[in-house]
Amino acid sequence: MGCSAVSLCPKQALFARRDDGGATDGGGTGEDGADEGRTGEDGAETYVSPFRTWYERATVRSSERRRLDPLTDGQDFFAPELVPLASHPLIAGLRGERPDLHREVLVRHLYRYLDFTAKLEHLVVNRTVLGIAHGTIGVRVPEAMRLDAFKIYCDEAYHALFSADLAAQVREATDVRADLARVPYFITRLQRFLEETPDDLSALTEILFVIVSETLITAQLAEMGNDRSVAPAVRETVRDHALDEGRHHAYFAIFLRHLWGQLTPATRRRAALRVPRLIRIFTDPDVPSVEKEIVGYGLPRDDAKQIVAELFPDASVTAYAKSVAQQTVRHFASVGALDDEQVRAEFAAYGLL
Ligand SMILES: [Fe+2]
Ligand SMILES: [Fe+2]
Repeated sequence: MGCSAVSLCPKQALFARRDDGGATDGGGTGEDGADEGRTGEDGAETYVSPFRTWYERATVRSSERRRLDPLTDGQDFFAPELVPLASHPLIAGLRGERPDLHREVLVRHLYRYLDFTAKLEHLVVNRTVLGIAHGTIGVRVPEAMRLDAFKIYCDEAYHALFSADLAAQVREATDVRADLARVPYFITRLQRFLEETPDDLSALTEILFVIVSETLITAQLAEMGNDRSVAPAVRETVRDHALDEGRHHAYFAIFLRHLWGQLTPATRRRAALRVPRLIRIFTDPDVPSVEKEIVGYGLPRDDAKQIVAELFPDASVTAYAKSVAQQTVRHFASVGALDDEQVRAEFAAYGLL
């Protein structure tokens, strides 16, 4: 392993061996610890753990369960400015017959967000994090980073739990059913993309999606964590999550440097070309779910399509992706991924530059 032959290291074999479920024969965990505290052969610098205060600060370790109290006047289940459907004229027009509709739209949006979170953490992020923790995804990292992956695994599992718990409390309090698809849109789109992905890039593409999702910053959502007009249990949950994710972001920026240093130039280029679409898979709106919701309010399918087109015009969907992905793009630029002309063109084509 250690390693003028990085291009032949177990990770490469892993990426080529999708059929064994992404596992490798240990990916060099035995000597990984030796990388800690000095510059590794892949150029990654000394690892300073973002989890030094994890036992004291992590939500799962230090925060109480967020309990939903009855809303007081002027409080909402979600910040209305983040849910444009709630004030769309066709929806507002229904409020004569359904005075609670505004609240219901916000509740459904909250359910969508919580379900997205729970499934992202359990089904996507923790799959990769488990592999990092056990050294089975073929990316060599310092021992301390491997141990930190165990902490991330706990964090994400708890994020999934508090999301499901909050959704259950809201359902209990409002009687609004979630009625969401079993598989959220981003997972359907990710699966489709993985099916189109050459076998030798499949495991790497999953890892890249996790790096992307862990480094995107939804600033608006972070602001909601301090928004006094949002139900305390909701805003505290959002804030708890944002605090944990700050540590994850730092970790995955470092992880990217380790990963990148271990890829061949050719694989780096192929990998970088996939990143813009992964970003958009994460940031694009869940159109089918919103359309279904509108039809559920009694509007014809054509009206639902028209509303969705008005809510999510291409220009604003692209602008949103660009703003959320700024840091992510910067991380990929910092490892040199955007030095390639074609890669830059691909990022630009997705509106990310
Ligand atoms: Fe999380
Ligand atoms: Fe995370």
